[in-house]
Amino acid sequence: METKFKKIKEEALKEIKAIKNSDDWQKIRDKYFSRKNGELAKLLKDIKEVSEDLKPKLGTLANQLKTEIAKALEQKEGEISSKKETDLERDFIDVTLEIEKFKLGHLHPLTQVQNELEDIFKSMGFMILDGPELESDYYNFEALNIPAWHPARDSQDTFYIESKDKLVLRTHTSPVQIRAMQKYGAPLRCVVPGRVFRNEATDASHDHTFYQLEGLMIDKDIAITHLVAIMKEMLSAIFKKEVKVRLRPGYFPFVEPGFELDFGCLICQGKGCPICKQSGWIEFVGSGLVHPNVLKYGGIDPKKWSGFAFGLGLTRLVMMKYRIDDVRLLQSGDLRFLNQF
Ligand code: PHE
Repeated sequence: METKFKKIKEEALKEIKAIKNSDDWQKIRDKYFSRKNGELAKLLKDIKEVSEDLKPKLGTLANQLKTEIAKALEQKEGEISSKKETDLERDFIDVTLEIEKFKLGHLHPLTQVQNELEDIFKSMGFMILDGPELESDYYNFEALNIPAWHPARDSQDTFYIESKDKLVLRTHTSPVQIRAMQKYGAPLRCVVPGRVFRNEATDASHDHTFYQLEGLMIDKDIAITHLVAIMKEMLSAIFKKEVKVRLRPGYFPFVEPGFELDFGCLICQGKGCPICKQSGWIEFVGSGLVHPNVLKYGGIDPKKWSGFAFGLGLTRLVMMKYRIDDVRLLQSGDLRFLNQF
């Protein structure tokens, strides 16, 4: 019996030594420790058969054997798991290796500039707002001090939608001025980037769909100098150099006084070129101090508060920044054009 013990021990230790992975480990463990057919279980059964006086000695030996095999198995388990770590290290992937290239898309140039503008205005404490593209006649015109009879309506070639609530494709982002005032009250700082629509005969510089960025700041004692400062700040951030601006009188029913704000042409540095139509200036923003009637439509007391508003041609800014000479390219979806940005 004792030689049998010895044989089992030698064999087990040999087998454990040869284990290479966790599957082998499990097999060997079962071979010895399985309750039903394991070698150790069998051994205990054999002990039952021997005479009573031999039992205690054999029992002790059996326990010793069990502990030794278990210990060897445990040690092996440790070796296997630490080996796994080194395997992991060996399986290291070199992410700098060339792989087959596939093309990812990228943001449209209009979106890129819009994102930049949003960051600039956010840094000056402006909220970024949104409004509906299908707008009511009331918000698009009426509440902006443009009643139905007003000739200013004629200059905005509007797409009217057949509906009982008088809907239009918004002709500018200005209706969101009213929506913002009604929702947030004064003081208020917001910009509204968005798509606008006009029934234009399209050519290189006119499209039926284009982008604007509306700005509105309402506070105590707001003056046009605040507007000029903010425009200069914004243009310098976009073009990464100091940009000159000038104001000309301009007429928009929802501001009083109203201005056209131009910036110095960056292509010819003000000397005159085809892009600025030889004037040295690029027409760019409609602006002014918010008309008291408009503040009232927005639910704000014009005796307490004043504000400036501007509507910036985002499409035109993109064209200027990237020197794009045909506005229609922007909406064309033509990859030969878009891939340049
Ligand atoms: N909404 C005007 C336009 O589209 C621009 C503008 C906005 C003018 C705000 C003044 C104040 O032409």
